[in-house]
Amino acid sequence: MLEKIGQPGFETLSKPDDVALKILDLALAENDELTVFEVGVGVGATTKPIAEKMNNKGALVLFSRSNDVESLAADLLALGYTNIDARWGSQNKTYSGYHFDLALAVQSGALTKVDFAYVDGGHVFHLDAPTTCILKEICSVGGYLVFDDWYWSLGASPTLSPDINAATARDYDSAQIEASHVRMVCEIFLDRDKRYKRLMLEKGTAVYQRIAQ
Ligand SMILES: C[S@@+](CC[C@H](N)C(=O)[O-])C[C@H]1O[C@@H](n2cnc3c(N)ncnc32)[C@H](O)[C@@H]1O
Repeated sequence: MLEKIGQPGFETLSKPDDVALKILDLALAENDELTVFEVGVGVGATTKPIAEKMNNKGALVLFSRSNDVESLAADLLALGYTNIDARWGSQNKTYSGYHFDLALAVQSGALTKVDFAYVDGGHVFHLDAPTTCILKEICSVGGYLVFDDWYWSLGASPTLSPDINAATARDYDSAQIEASHVRMVCEIFLDRDKRYKRLMLEKGTAVYQRIAQ
């Protein structure tokens, strides 16, 4: 998987999220044994520097399609990273996804807390709303929830815009095509939750910290 970074066709997935990595540095300065989730791994452009920064301490839990999670975990293992949890990959069924596998992981008691979550998956409300509702309950006090693509919309997406992608016009209504779903999720579930403080919104990445039990 990591060999795809920088290759033609993977340009938009090849740049790590600097804002997320900067916040991870802050979190690791406080505690170097964190439980970190990455939700949506792409080709591992951000996963690899996360693993490097964690330096085999704590646990890095990956949520994405299972073939991607397994291939990325194998690459990271080959680089010497043994703290990767690759148990929660999602199938390719229409309604499968990280929202449901995260729910299963928490319901079973296999995952009980997160100190730093980087959410960069499908960016649509039906995936990210339940994901955020779960993450915000298991986030440790002082922990961080980081969301990429605050401004993203289906309508403006170079690959999913209904002008290019007939499935978008079939599957989503006009309000859903126009909306910035990540922004909606954050404004509804985090900006209104007194346990959370929005620390910044930089380069389209929003950072929240849990400030109260
Ligand atoms: C934008 S990419 C992630 C990029 C990565 N975080 C990075 O910084 O390089 C989005 C990822 O979310 C995954 N994804 C989208 N919808 C999903 C779903 N329903 N279930 C599991 N993974 C999904 C995609 O397969 C893709 O790997």
